[in-house]
Amino acid sequence: MRAAPTVGAIALALGALACSSARPDDMADLDSARSDAADVLARARSGNEALPWAFVLNDPAPGGAERPDPDEIVTVPGSDLALRRRDIGIERGPPDWHPEGHPPMPEVVARGGGEGVLACGYCHLPNGQGKPENAGLAGQPYEYLVQQMEDYRDGLRRTGEPRMGPPSLMMRIGAATTDAEARAAAEYFSSMDFRPWIRVVEAAEVPVTRRAGWIHRAVDGAGTEPIGIRVVELPEDLTRTELRDDASGFVAYVPPGAIERGRRLVTTGGDGRTVACTLCHGDDLRGLGPVPALAGRSPSYMARQLYDLKRGNREGAWSDLMDRSVLSLTARDIVDIVAYTASLDP
Ligand code: HEC
Ligand code: HEC
Repeated sequence: MRAAPTVGAIALALGALACSSARPDDMADLDSARSDAADVLARARSGNEALPWAFVLNDPAPGGAERPDPDEIVTVPGSDLALRRRDIGIERGPPDWHPEGHPPMPEVVARGGGEGVLACGYCHLPNGQGKPENAGLAGQPYEYLVQQMEDYRDGLRRTGEPRMGPPSLMMRIGAATTDAEARAAAEYFSSMDFRPWIRVVEAAEVPVTRRAGWIHRAVDGAGTEPIGIRVVELPEDLTRTELRDDASGFVAYVPPGAIERGRRLVTTGGDGRTVACTLCHGDDLRGLGPVPALAGRSPSYMARQLYDLKRGNREGAWSDLMDRSVLSLTARDIVDIVAYTASLDP
């Protein structure tokens, strides 16, 4: 591991790890009940095959869909700004609907940097709250963000689902971003607090969805279907999300009982099934030293990371510290863990 001023926190936790791998016999039943799901994660040829609800691939576009008028004037609640729809696009950087909600954006966040370095704020939003298909950056430790950008640059942080557009694009952006650009962005995003953004609801039945724009969308009038072993994360207001309104959050439906099952795994390690995450991510999972915060963040994003860490797609300078925690996780465990972490106050 590279020398970073606060990496001692991780080393301390590692020491504690050495004596936490005992597995009582009563976990055997639970293990066999879960072995099918474990196989899915081990055998899957892609992220989408393993966790289709997290590595979202778009459905074919419905025939006859109308394209919105590019000259239409669009607005969002609580903002004085009025824009032509055609003015919203990644090459122009993010629309800044709520400038009072964040400090002034550095150039790389607002408009992008050198060749291939697209404006961070377009995807991660000006206030850094992020969306299910990308990541919330606000409030993550500066050292952590800088390290991730270094890992992207070194090709050590990859995605298990290259067909999913945004993570693949992030790999290319990360490879192109200079150290100075990365530091400017990290300073900006780490200076803001991450705010409550995702409402977690346990539900046996969820709206029927289709997948477009790399997220789930409720299909009007299509009713509900059983949730199964999934998390279904949806915009609270699809129109506002499509306009990249950074004041409109998400709802995540999770299976009944998932939050409590996740709490047990995360706070105790589930009798040796995994490691108590709180050791490194902090008692409240709001991060510790350079270790990232998990509380209140997108369950879809967190699930993709657990898969990528487990499958070795993420093998950055600090990724080994996660090995023991993800080794035995099943698809079901991942649903439960991210249901719990998303439900916490950030
Ligand atoms: C095209 C949209 C897009 C743009 C533009 C973009 N990102 Fe990302 N970023 C993503 C996606 C998608 C992910 C999550 C990848 C995944 O799920 O594995 C991500 C992940 C990250 C992460 C990892 C977060 C974590 O918690 O580990 C960092 C750091 C990051 N981006 C920084 C940046 C910076 C800095 C910029 C601007 C130079 C930027 N991104 C521009 C889409 C984008
Ligand atoms: C020994 C310390 C340690 C333990 C225990 C640990 N983590 Fe981590 N975790 C880390 C470190 C360090 C990173 C950053 C990894 C990297 O840079 O690739 C990380 C990263 C993550 C990420 C990616 C976050 C992001 O923003 O991309 C997730 C999700 C995560 N951990 C979840 C968990 C869960 C769930 C548990 C418990 C089951 C857990 N961790 C236990 C140290 C730990």
